Amino acid sequence: MYAQMVKSEATQDDPDMLAAFQARVDAGEKIEPKDWMPAGYRKTLIRQIGQHAHSEIVGQLPEANWIARAPTLERKANLLAKVQDEAGHGLYLYCAVETLGVSRDELTEMLLDGRMKYSSIFNYPTLTWADMGAVGWLVDGAAIMNQVPLQRTSYGPYARSMVRICKEESFHQRQGFHVMMAMVKGSEAQKRMAQDALNRFWYPALMMFGPSDKDSVHSEQSMSWKIKMNTNDELRQKFVDETVPQAEYLGLTIPDEHMKWNEDTGHYDFTEPDWSEFFEVIQGNGPCNVDRIAARQKAWDDGAWVREAMVAHAEKKQSRKSAAE
Ligand code: 3HC
Repeated sequence: MYAQMVKSEATQDDPDMLAAFQARVDAGEKIEPKDWMPAGYRKTLIRQIGQHAHSEIVGQLPEANWIARAPTLERKANLLAKVQDEAGHGLYLYCAVETLGVSRDELTEMLLDGRMKYSSIFNYPTLTWADMGAVGWLVDGAAIMNQVPLQRTSYGPYARSMVRICKEESFHQRQGFHVMMAMVKGSEAQKRMAQDALNRFWYPALMMFGPSDKDSVHSEQSMSWKIKMNTNDELRQKFVDETVPQAEYLGLTIPDEHMKWNEDTGHYDFTEPDWSEFFEVIQGNGPCNVDRIAARQKAWDDGAWVREAMVAHAEKKQSRKSAAE
């Protein structure tokens, strides 16, 4: 259905319509589902919002791993609420993509057979309780940095879904920082765990913003359509500038010996992540890629009876309605 739709739309991409569309975007108007849009705009949105939705869902896995092992009832309740929020984010985002004419089933199939990606960060394991702090602080912190500007993105359903998601991500970032605070105020062993979690999550968090601008394939077009509001490097720098003082407050050391404040630029200088590792991870070769997709495949297979029952129920309801008419 989706492939057919994009193909028929491509033939309509005449220059006048494209110019009129671009003028609407430039004027800050929101594009709504029933409006005409270039095929490439629709395709990019489906890719980006779909990838974002998958990230929220797959992102539940590393944290769900710690719900049963949280150290107190309060921490367990907080973590449970956070993981439930992520499921909700995935659902809003799947609804936003569905307005573009692709079904959730198609999106899931594309995730499972490798045609669609999800965020690189969720291919790293969560080894200790301190990782729950580091994930909330750094991963949700990076997610907010990327998503706050997306509240102004040109596609209406995506922009509106971002408003609520950002509010909840902000709670997640704070709960993560709170876990880190407790760890660094605890025993020497707890402080070491917090530092170890920061050491392991720092560079993967920097990778979340995508490849450096020179290697970003989609940024230029996506920014002119206001599907993206900033480049990958701009947001990465902003994240570093805001996070370094937070690490200092915690008494932790960012694992980068070249990290230093630059008076001339007004920003921190920092070491780029290992981009070869990033490309390996997004090609499916990270530490947990196989496990993550296996878990999603199992959930999809286990849920087959629910989908079938719902279709059967809808068909029965429809046939009763037709018989009564
Ligand atoms: N993980 C996986 N793939 C990534 C990636 C990442 N961190 N960063 C980039 N890529 C992929 C792109 O998808 C693209 O591959 P494709 O052409 O096969 O789709 C390729 O690398 C080149 O990158 P580009 O810079 O050209 O790609 P984009 O313009 O799409 O920029 C992005 C990447 C900045 C991640 C952008 O897509 C974006 O802003 N997405 C919306 C936000 C999002 O998806 N966030 C997920 C974070 S996790 C989360 O929110 C869960 C929360 O609970 C923490």
